[in-house]
Amino acid sequence: MASETAPVRLVDYRVPDFLIDTVELDFHLDPKATQVKSRLAVRPNTEGVADLTLVGDELKLVSVTLDGKPLEAGAYNATSDSLVIRNVPSAPFTLEVEVEIDPSTNTKLMGLYRTGAAYCTQCEAEGFRRITYFLDRPDVLAVYTTRIEALKAEAPVLLANGNPQQSGDIPGTDRHFAIWHDPFPKPSYLFALVAGDLGVITDRFTTMSGRDVELRIYCEHGKEERCAYAMNALKRSMRWDETAFGREYDLDIFVIVAVSDFNMGAMENKGLNVFNDKYVLADPDTATDTDFANVEGVIAHEYFHNWTGNRITCRDWFQLCLKEGLTVFRDQEFSSDMRSRPVKRIADVRTLQARQFPEDAGPLAHPVRPEIYYEINNFYTATVYEKGAEIVRMLKTILGEDGFRKGMDLYFDRHDGQAVTIEDFLSAFHDATGVDLAQFHLWYSQSGTPEVVARGSYDPKQKTYSLSLKQNCPPTPGQTTKKPMHIPLRFGLVGPNGDDLSFSDATGARVEDNVIHLTEAEQTVVFSGVSSLPVPSLIRGFSAPVRLSVDLSPSDLLFLLRTDSDPFNRWQAAQTFAIRDLVARTGAKVRGEALDTNEPFIDALGEVAEADALEPAFRAQILQLPGEADIAREIGRNVDPDAIARARAELRISMAGRIGGRLAVLFDSLQSKTAFSTDAASAGRRALANAALDLMVANRDRAAIERVVARYRNADNMTDRLGALSIMAHAPLDERLPALADFEERYRNDPLVLDKWFALEASVPAPETLDRVRALMEHPAFSPSNPNRIRALIGSFASGNQTQFNRADGAGYDFLIDFLRDLDRRNPQTTARLLISFRSWRALETGRRNRAEAALKRLDAVGNLSTDARDIVARMLA
Ligand code: PHE
Ligand code: ZN
Repeated sequence: MASETAPVRLVDYRVPDFLIDTVELDFHLDPKATQVKSRLAVRPNTEGVADLTLVGDELKLVSVTLDGKPLEAGAYNATSDSLVIRNVPSAPFTLEVEVEIDPSTNTKLMGLYRTGAAYCTQCEAEGFRRITYFLDRPDVLAVYTTRIEALKAEAPVLLANGNPQQSGDIPGTDRHFAIWHDPFPKPSYLFALVAGDLGVITDRFTTMSGRDVELRIYCEHGKEERCAYAMNALKRSMRWDETAFGREYDLDIFVIVAVSDFNMGAMENKGLNVFNDKYVLADPDTATDTDFANVEGVIAHEYFHNWTGNRITCRDWFQLCLKEGLTVFRDQEFSSDMRSRPVKRIADVRTLQARQFPEDAGPLAHPVRPEIYYEINNFYTATVYEKGAEIVRMLKTILGEDGFRKGMDLYFDRHDGQAVTIEDFLSAFHDATGVDLAQFHLWYSQSGTPEVVARGSYDPKQKTYSLSLKQNCPPTPGQTTKKPMHIPLRFGLVGPNGDDLSFSDATGARVEDNVIHLTEAEQTVVFSGVSSLPVPSLIRGFSAPVRLSVDLSPSDLLFLLRTDSDPFNRWQAAQTFAIRDLVARTGAKVRGEALDTNEPFIDALGEVAEADALEPAFRAQILQLPGEADIAREIGRNVDPDAIARARAELRISMAGRIGGRLAVLFDSLQSKTAFSTDAASAGRRALANAALDLMVANRDRAAIERVVARYRNADNMTDRLGALSIMAHAPLDERLPALADFEERYRNDPLVLDKWFALEASVPAPETLDRVRALMEHPAFSPSNPNRIRALIGSFASGNQTQFNRADGAGYDFLIDFLRDLDRRNPQTTARLLISFRSWRALETGRRNRAEAALKRLDAVGNLSTDARDIVARMLA
């Protein structure tokens, strides 16, 4: 069934017919019937347009006046999704509109809705139109003043964007009000309001120019102490943006609110960020080291949007990566500076490969800047965010540190207060550095992951090393042929002792500062003056988001794993070795053959794990084998998830057998005797201990199992406790059953912690898991309308449990589709996100492929799907 709504196309962009300079909002909050009055200063922006069309979404008009006069019935037309005013003046005018909305039935969590007993808003991308009729598009920038009135008892806290202006009681009533004013013109998607009975922590920050800023984090009463880490991360983010980018905060107050019902991670509303509480609340008893790192990263991300997104915003939604890709890049850099840069890079590349590569290789592939959409909510993707960030990173590689900073400075200077495009962004870098970025622009318009094939040959007589490079980007929906892109390949030619060999000259491509600029479909780079046969170390630091194939022998890979000066490529060498083994092993399983164990590889991993000169967090990354989904992606077609799981288990068993003893010594040496600390080094030791233990139990070694059980029981922090529990669940060990029950009992009253339990229960690779997931939907803590609960239980099953979601009988697919059919009526956005678990269905073996297709077709046949779900299903089946 085709999409029923008309698509939006980039080529159709037109400037708005009208602009709105100021917006005065007045909210009378009521759970069932909130009155919203808006007073808009409107001004024509193009010639000869007689009618003003404002958009709405599920609105009920109460009244409308123009320049103070009520409009006659024929002068306007109001429906729930538009308000057309006919023959408006050609000079500026004031429009006053009153609507009534019902926040308590708003289960889409877009617009004004309830979370717990509080009121909150979410407006990106198109939620403001669910609050009042408006020109709800990002290129209409207005100065907002917001008055909120509510029952004092129900909502003692009243918040909106900007600075607080006035507040007080309303005499003779049990109500009060507050007025907030945001002097910075902004698009409607950055509007926010929060009201309720909330706890708070406060702090202060002095900006580099001496401005004193009040900081507040609001949360549910009783959770204030769990906000301390987020506050600390906020202050570090504010300082970092000053040092790294010269950007300081610009209002008198910065407020964060943690809410428990939220479709996404968090939202950068000007001066009033609203967060999914999972990215704010963290203390050692309830949050893992990964949670702490995520809180730090998301706090930074939303704060950094103040400049990249808010002060400079997007002209239209096709430009989403302008703010998201850039801001992800900025938060990744921040976290790298706060923690270990190589470990952060490895983690980010893992995410990119796990989330973005499959998107680029499947039916949902789209350019980083799309050119057409049916539902913008569906473009908050790994491609826009993560690949978008990779593009900014490549830009920095191409321009160098100084050139990049000059370009950013010019961008901020030139476009402050504007709504701009990717072309404006790239022009700033071109104008600041003189570098031609015309070919580089293709990264924004061509979808698909380029493949780079490299072949090297050494001439010992001439002392030359030739590297032949080919690039090719496979076809993607709507794009059959691609042009060669500008791919910056950071590299080294590693000599026998592990140092990079020097060369006197390089021809065939521009080679500068250890970067080869691959710009053509085929190029051969010839290095002269190379003293001996090198092992090429290519795409160091993952300098481009491509798939590399290079003719390295197993011993070359082990050599790089042991000696490469680039830590990222040491990790990459281990991954490449493991994935080759696992793909071959899977093939052997399918054919019923056996494959030998590669002992030198396992020994090399053991050596790296023990190498005290390396950071523990890095060693932990080396020990983690590619996951089942990574192997499936590499195999690419006719995927049998059961064979993959058996192959991976087999390799793990060999590892446990061969180096389990050494890992046990390592594990014991990592047991901390000092008090718990969240710092990156301590977290690294915990990660390494967990990674070692995870391998040690693979062959069901009794002593290893005792260690994991004891680690669970004796843990004094959530990282160790959950680490042990997840090792038991994933193995899966029988010992998991009492431990999972214990965990539920301990944390049953803490929804965020219980989410970890829901997620683990759903990811147990055992045939009974689907029934268990069904049963847990009846658990008192599960709620079929809370996105965090849904993602924890259903999302983890669908995207984190390869064998059970992809059961051969198709029951996993049917379960998900039935659930989503129901969820779609309440929350389309979350439905569409969960549907993405099907994105690689065409790569499955025939039986599963047919069952997945049948399940998707069943959903497609449902008549009243949301545009969100309809769009994903249609593209998935196209
Ligand atoms: N703009 C948010 C971010 O920082 C994400 C988001 C999009 C949140 C849409 C809510 C709705 O990435
Ligand atoms: Zn963002």
